[in-house]
This record gives sequence, C-alpha cells and structure tokens, in this order.
Amino acid sequence: MKPTHLTLLLACTGLAQSQPPPPGFPVSLNSTLSTTGTHNVRIDTGTYGCPVEEYHYFYDQWPIGLAVSRQGRVFTCYTRGDYAYTLGEVVSLTAEAAYPSLELNTPPAGLVLGEGGGGVAGVPFGSADSTHFISVQALYVTPDDTLWVLDTGRPTVNASTSSPSMPYAAPGGPKLVAINLTTNAVARTYTFPVDVHYPDSYMNDLRFDQRRNATESGQGIAYIVDSSDEGRNGFIVLDLGTGESWRQLDQHPSTLRVAEAVPSYQGLPFYLRRKGKAVDFLQEGLDGAELSLYGDVMYYSPLTSNSLYSIETKYLRANPNEKPQAFKAAFDNVKSLGQRGGNANGFAGDSLGNVYMLMPEHNGVFIYNSTLGQTVPFVRDPRILWPDSANAGWDGYLYMTINQLPYQPNWNDGVDDRVHPGLILRARMPDGAGKSTVLFDG
Ligand SMILES: *[C@@H]1O[C@H](CO)[C@@H](O)[C@H](O)[C@H]1NC(C)=O
Ligand SMILES: *[C@@H]1O[C@H](CO)[C@@H](O)[C@H](O)[C@H]1NC(C)=O
Ligand SMILES: *[C@@H]1O[C@H](CO)[C@@H](O)[C@H](O)[C@H]1NC(C)=O
Ligand SMILES: *[C@@H]1O[C@H](CO)[C@@H](O)[C@H](O)[C@H]1NC(C)=O
Ligand SMILES: *[C@@H]1O[C@H](CO)[C@@H](O)[C@H](O)[C@H]1NC(C)=O
Repeated sequence: MKPTHLTLLLACTGLAQSQPPPPGFPVSLNSTLSTTGTHNVRIDTGTYGCPVEEYHYFYDQWPIGLAVSRQGRVFTCYTRGDYAYTLGEVVSLTAEAAYPSLELNTPPAGLVLGEGGGGVAGVPFGSADSTHFISVQALYVTPDDTLWVLDTGRPTVNASTSSPSMPYAAPGGPKLVAINLTTNAVARTYTFPVDVHYPDSYMNDLRFDQRRNATESGQGIAYIVDSSDEGRNGFIVLDLGTGESWRQLDQHPSTLRVAEAVPSYQGLPFYLRRKGKAVDFLQEGLDGAELSLYGDVMYYSPLTSNSLYSIETKYLRANPNEKPQAFKAAFDNVKSLGQRGGNANGFAGDSLGNVYMLMPEHNGVFIYNSTLGQTVPFVRDPRILWPDSANAGWDGYLYMTINQLPYQPNWNDGVDDRVHPGLILRARMPDGAGKSTVLFDG
C-alpha cells in the first residue's frame, strides 16, 4: 500500500485501559474523511487517532496548566485576575479546590504593588510576595513526586472589566516553588534576579533534568521558557542546587514571535483584538518546549511559528556569567527542523521520546518524530478548542487542558465568548508509552 498521511497514525495500543468512546462520539476514529448525507459527499469529520476522553469539566475558573502525579492526583492552575485561587487540585469530575491551601493562594498585601510601587511613577507592578501564589502559569510533577509551580508574578488587573492589563513583574513575585506531594508543604522556592527575569518577562513553561550529573551542584536543572508578549524571549535556566539562574538564546530569532502571524481557529482567521486598541497580531514568543528522551536536546518553538527548532541542552546549561563564549555558542548551534504543519502551543514528552505538540489551529495534537525528522498526526477532535497544556501521566494517558483562549475578553474585543465547561481531555499514548523517568536518578 502506498504510504499516506493516515498510515502514519499511531496504533491505540497504550498502557492505559481501553475505554468505549463517549456517547455520540464517531466510531470510525481512524479516518479524518467520511462520506455521508443524501448525496454521499465526502466530508472532513474533524477527528482521527485514539479516542479522546472527557476527564474533567471546569465550570468556574478557566484553566491554563496541569500536571498529573504518580498517584493520579491532578493539579491545575489558572492565571488571575480576580479568581479566588491560582493553584488548584481536581477534587471531583466538576470541581477543583485551592491547593495546598487558600491561604497560600492569597498574598496578604494583594496581587499588585500598585501604581509606582516598583519605583516608576505611574507604572503598575505585580506583587513581590515570594511566599504566596500570585498568578500561576505552569505546573510539572517530577518522578520524586514534587509538584513544581511556576508563578509569573504578573496578575491581570481590571480582569473583570473589558480592558484588562498586565503589570510588570517585581523581583520576588516571579518564582518557581517545589511542593512535596507527600506532605503537601512547600519544600523550596527559587526567585530570579532582574537581569534574568526582566520586568516584562513571562515564564510560560518548564522542564527538568534531575540527574546528578546535569550540573556541578548535583541537584538538577530547570529549563524555563520566557514567552513575553513584550518581545524579549529566550530560555531561563536554573541550577536547582545553587539557585543561580541565567538566560540563553535571549532574542535569538528562533525564540521570537513571527511578525504579522494570522493563524486560523475553527476556520476563522484570527487577529488580536484588544478593547480600545488597534487590531493587532498575537505577540507571544517562545512557548512550547520539550526535552529529548535522554535530555540532550531541547525542542522548542514560538507560539506564532510554523517552524520547530532544537538545540543541544549543553549549550543552554553553559552559564554565560562563567563562560564568556557560552552565549554566542548557543546562538551558533540552534538547529531549524523545518516546518511542522501549523502553529503549536504547549509541548509534552513521554517515555518513548515522542514530542507532542498542541496544535490550536487544527484542534489536534501532532508528534515530532526525530527518527523520521517529520511531524506525524496523533489525535484530532472538535472538542480540542485551544489545547493549552499537556502532560504525560504514569497511567499511559496524555492529559490536556482545553480553555477556548481565543474567545477570552483580552483577545476578543472585551467580550467573553467562552462557554463553560473548560475541559481536561485525555487520550492513550501510543505503544505503551507513559511518563518518562529517565531524567531522574531514583
Ligand atoms: C485504529 O487503527 C489501529 C491500527 O489499524 C487499530 O488497532 C485501532 O483499533 C483503530 N482504532 C479505532 C478506534 O478504530
Ligand atoms: C483599572 O480600572 C480603573 C477604573 O476604570 C482605572 O482607573 C485604572 O486606571 C485601571 N488600571 C489599569 C492598570 O488599567
Ligand atoms: C517528601 O516528604 C516525605 C515525607 O517527609 C519524604 O520522605 C520525602 O523524601 C520528601 N520528598 C522529597 C523529594 O524530598
Ligand atoms: C549523565 O549521564 C548519562 C549516563 O548515565 C549520560 O547519558 C548523560 O549524557 C550525562 N549528562 C551529562 C550532562 O553529562
Ligand atoms: C518514529 O518513527 C520510527 C520510524 O517509523 C519508528 O520506528 C519509531 O517508533 C517512531 N517513534 C519514535 C518515538 O521514535
């Protein structure tokens, strides 16, 4: 048989138990094309791949990130805003609760320092509170059962009005917090100097290499992406032993937004429409990032790009404060892997080295296969209305949050066109894949 795009589809033979498709779900999931109707015309069904299951419904706060623990606990985060909490745990099919407590989600002095609070007249700054959560963007659970919480320190002010805005970060507010999932207590907190996390930085996602040999300090390293829509993009690299951090690929073209990008969602060309401002384009830079199975390569891309890039992680780990050539060496070693078939949002990885890429224009998820040097289809489904963040569970499922982001007021001329519920969807990963524990010395 002549190979086609669909013969590249991966078999639904994951570790996870097979489940019947939800009621009303098309049975012929392996075909994106169907013939139906009185004239038997061919249509695009909008689906392919393994069945996509509805795991959780959000009826209150709209989610951003998620992480699944070894015991199957599911944690979610929400950027805020006027939400009561920014870090939560799923407690039932339709509810979440503040985690680890409402108190830790409530900075006593509020979410913002107030105008001029950062020392610049008339310029609002986010809270500098490093012991309470301000606005959590991303989560990750490492194999030692630590929940890592990435707080941007940049809440949205006037969130409930039609003209929300985001204050700058004050040092202390943007932080990485480790929570021990056995004790549910904060184990460590890392903050960043102002020349590593700029006032206009926005930490969007994070990955870990916790092997003892990853750094001299022996306690592992974190790779964080700065997706700032104010344009200074790059990686923030953090030595988890010393707490020292540095930037790499700062404003390298592969980390910057693509100018004048006009993606389409649900078949509709998308321009950024902010209330009271001229029609614009999505501005986020470096967003999706995932490590190769053995941690030697970082795959990444800006939100508005059709291209995938990679760099050997040794260049990111090299600290420019110690090695004067390290910054240029990283610039010189970025690899373009070509186009992948659309813009991608968050990435995820599994125990087989698959790099999943969430594809908001296609209501689907693609996989970059480094052996083939190509992207292959994984799942597509009409319920995947802006897949924001994905996570491989120990149970063999890929979990993802769905939050209808293009319909939020801040992108939609002040109008909230999102319709509850938001979702956590999940699909079985191929070939028995599960959570990767390779980058952790047990
Ligand atoms: C999709 O195709 C694969 C391989 O041909 C098969 O094993 C699997 O059962 C099919 N899945 C569905 C839902 O039809
Ligand atoms: C928030 O809204 C109030 C009232 O409309 C306005 O005075 C204030 O300037 C706004 N703040 C920001 C940072 O936009
Ligand atoms: C988490 O806490 C438990 C109980 O105190 C302890 O045994 C475990 O080592 C802690 N985990 C980490 C990663 O330190
Ligand atoms: C750490 O050791 C593993 C093998 O145990 C090796 O594959 C990896 O490249 C090493 N990492 C570094 C940064 O040296
Ligand atoms: C990638 O494609 C190759 C060749 O088809 C296949 O053997 C491999 O299982 C695929 N997956 C990964 C993770 O490499």
